[in-house]
Amino acid sequence: MINSYIRKDLQNLKPYHSPAVPYEIKLDANESPFSLPVKVKHQLIEWIEKEENLNRYPDTDSNDLRRAIGKLWNVEEDNVICGVGSDQLIDCMMKVFLEPNDQILLPSPSFTMYSLSARMNHGIPIEVPLEENYHYSTSKILEAYAKYKPKIIVLCTPNNPTGNQLSIGGIEEIVSKVTCPVLIDEAYGEFMDDSMIDFIHKYPHIFVIRTFSKAFGLAGLRVGYGIGSKEMIDAISITKPPYNLNTLSEKIVLMALEQIPLYEERIKALQKEKDWLASQLIDIGYKVYPSKANFLLIEIKNKSISKIFQQKNILVRDFSNHPGLLSCFRVTIGTREENQKIFQVLKENVLS
Ligand SMILES: Cc1ncc(COP(=O)(O)O)c(C=O)c1O
Repeated sequence: MINSYIRKDLQNLKPYHSPAVPYEIKLDANESPFSLPVKVKHQLIEWIEKEENLNRYPDTDSNDLRRAIGKLWNVEEDNVICGVGSDQLIDCMMKVFLEPNDQILLPSPSFTMYSLSARMNHGIPIEVPLEENYHYSTSKILEAYAKYKPKIIVLCTPNNPTGNQLSIGGIEEIVSKVTCPVLIDEAYGEFMDDSMIDFIHKYPHIFVIRTFSKAFGLAGLRVGYGIGSKEMIDAISITKPPYNLNTLSEKIVLMALEQIPLYEERIKALQKEKDWLASQLIDIGYKVYPSKANFLLIEIKNKSISKIFQQKNILVRDFSNHPGLLSCFRVTIGTREENQKIFQVLKENVLS
């Protein structure tokens, strides 16, 4: 009965669920293995004891956080918007720009939320395949732009789940030749050296998103941000739900932002771990895609590898059913102990 009332274009869409399986090691969601810095824990307890104001609604515009992020990137707070995860900002962008049946260009394979969000917002996702070894083809994207006249182009760099980066030169080649809004998803940007945030004034039609869920290890708080020209931020703000960020999340992120040197150390440590795991696996014959993020995409012929991991209570992300990634799985970089476990399992199964 209810089903017949669901929007026709959503009737075949399944709700998003994350499997609630027991685990000892969780390396399937590109989270950080590090917990909240001790100093932040203490500050938080003190804030709760002395200043907490949770009886009040949060600041609907997250002004303190926008100012702090602006300072971090040397932009004005008017160039910043905060979301409940960067997921919410992806959604807000689609909501504000897409009219029914507008087309949106997405890299493929890439983060699944783009096409889901496009469909939820009455858009039509057009997938532009990545080239050999998952490299971006700027010419293919520009050809697709000319052909489909999309309302939005999405670029994910480093790309999830393939780990490769599209160079600043490559991005400029695209954004300098198109007029539509371009979403540049830098969710893993802290693991690479450069950012398109430095180009928001040169290209007012770009919207660069980042998150506190990955390098900052705050996935449980659900805080992301977007940076763009004032015109872009004003547009996205139209569809941002009021009071979206909660007070506690905003407060903790503000405290975390005072610990940048510690996070830089953690990022370096994870990069070292990534290089270690990649080289160990390459040495025993695995194909490991070069990654600028906190995860590795690994090719494996053994289709039951994720079952083998599961039996050992280890979660990894299996892509064996994903067209375009047929014999691959993705593993998040964890602690040395966790990475060693991954290596051990793969070593035992190398020939199977
Ligand atoms: C490429 C990419 N963008 C955005 C997100 C969403 O992150 P969040 O909503 O936690 O900020 C993710 C999460 O995995 C991601 O991989």
